[in-house]
Amino acid sequence: MAAAGKVFDYRSALGTFATGVTVITTISGSGAPVGFTANSFCSVSLDPPLLLFCLDRGSYSFNHFEKTDHFAVNVLTELQEDVSAHFARPSEDKWRHVGHEICSVGCPVFADALAVFECKTHAVHDGGDHIIVVGEVVQFSHEAAGDPLLYYRGRYARIAAEVEAC
Ligand SMILES: Cc1cc2nc3c(=O)[nH]c(=O)nc-3n(C[C@H](O)[C@H](O)[C@H](O)COP(=O)(O)O)c2cc1C
Repeated sequence: MAAAGKVFDYRSALGTFATGVTVITTISGSGAPVGFTANSFCSVSLDPPLLLFCLDRGSYSFNHFEKTDHFAVNVLTELQEDVSAHFARPSEDKWRHVGHEICSVGCPVFADALAVFECKTHAVHDGGDHIIVVGEVVQFSHEAAGDPLLYYRGRYARIAAEVEAC
């Protein structure tokens, strides 16, 4: 196991990998919406269409995603930094006053997300202090325009405007 100082270094090193930001959602056994901010989202396979995310075993959301049959991935736009911050706070009830719709697999989605992937859970793997959840995409949608919210070195970032060639 890495020494305490090394863990900090390791996180800093991982932070150099710029990512987009998502909110991943599902519905609890009692029908309540569940969601958390994630940048561990990535594509796995095109045929079949598989994607994955990793979830901390210590999170409130853990029990729900470990058991769920379906989940949805909301890819956030650069205008949704507040949404990301809200869903990155540990809480069992994040949905009061948060506008959302219910998608075809029964999970909460944001109408103004840059893209939405609706998934059937394909596999849940051990990933150390996280679990790796693999989903098969059964439906997706995306906006033709709009820029993503980015995350880099522990801070939010945006795509810079293109500089016109002289
Ligand atoms: C940009 C960003 C990306 C994150 N990515 C992940 C992730 O991929 N997996 C994870 O378990 N937590 C991730 N987190 C932390 C969770 O969002 C945070 O622990 C949240 O409180 C979990 O919610 P819950 O405890 O209510 O389930 C991320 C946080 C931020 C700000």
